[in-house]
Amino acid sequence: MILVLLGPPGSGKGTQAKLIAEAKKLPHISLGDLLREEVRIESEIGKRAKEFMDAGKLVPDELTIELAKKRVSRPDCQVGFIMDGFPRSPIQAEAFDKMLKELNRSIDFVLYFKISEEEVVSRLSGRRSCKDCGAVYHLENSPPKTAGKCDACGGELILRKDDDPGVIRTRFEVYDKSTKPLIDYYGKTGKMVEIDASLPIDKAFNNVLKILANATAL
Ligand code: AP5
Repeated sequence: MILVLLGPPGSGKGTQAKLIAEAKKLPHISLGDLLREEVRIESEIGKRAKEFMDAGKLVPDELTIELAKKRVSRPDCQVGFIMDGFPRSPIQAEAFDKMLKELNRSIDFVLYFKISEEEVVSRLSGRRSCKDCGAVYHLENSPPKTAGKCDACGGELILRKDDDPGVIRTRFEVYDKSTKPLIDYYGKTGKMVEIDASLPIDKAFNNVLKILANATAL
């Protein structure tokens, strides 16, 4: 099964992708995580991507398309995968269709995480991510057992640079301009399903599971 998770920053794509990946035994491909890893290892892609990411802007299409193509071609993706944060522009969506066609595959579902901007601003300012393993927490909604420390690896929990309120605003402007048109693009395919992303994590996940179970039964 190939799933695409679409939605504004902070709508819970990453959180739900991890839960779906565990339940359905599918690889979770987060373009944000792949890019942050390139930045961490100071690769050529990482060096070019960093300034765009820190400013809350989209990394140039040629870099994200190259990363996505490399990742979906790996053997573990033969069972399917969950694409989180890609495509994020019409150019990326067309490139994704093309790469899937070359692999003789197609998207099964696009899950569109619908939520208002006001609701996600507080989620993003309360988000803390592990500096070492990338695990995601929220100060109120899903706090770590020990304040400031990752439950999984004990690493330090930090506020992402792009979760600064000024950068969050830019990320929303970018989402409205570049990514929102994909709601139309995928809406026309008949494969897009809307998820109420304002619900608590477990309720939103139950709804996702129901949608996927009905789909499998079809
Ligand atoms: P990326 O890391 O993908 O950021 P994003 O899309 O802005 O998404 P977020 O990670 O902020 O939010 P999310 O929806 O995953 O929410 P989460 O589950 O973490 O990308 C970062 C940057 O990389 C981009 O700005 C861009 O520069 C670049 N980039 C990435 N992909 C690109 C592409 N394709 N093209 C070009 N550039 C690209 O949840 C947020 C918080 O809320 C967490 O604290 C969580 O615990 C909490 N939470 C989650 N769900 C709930 C809930 N239901 N109720 C209450 N709290 C919740």
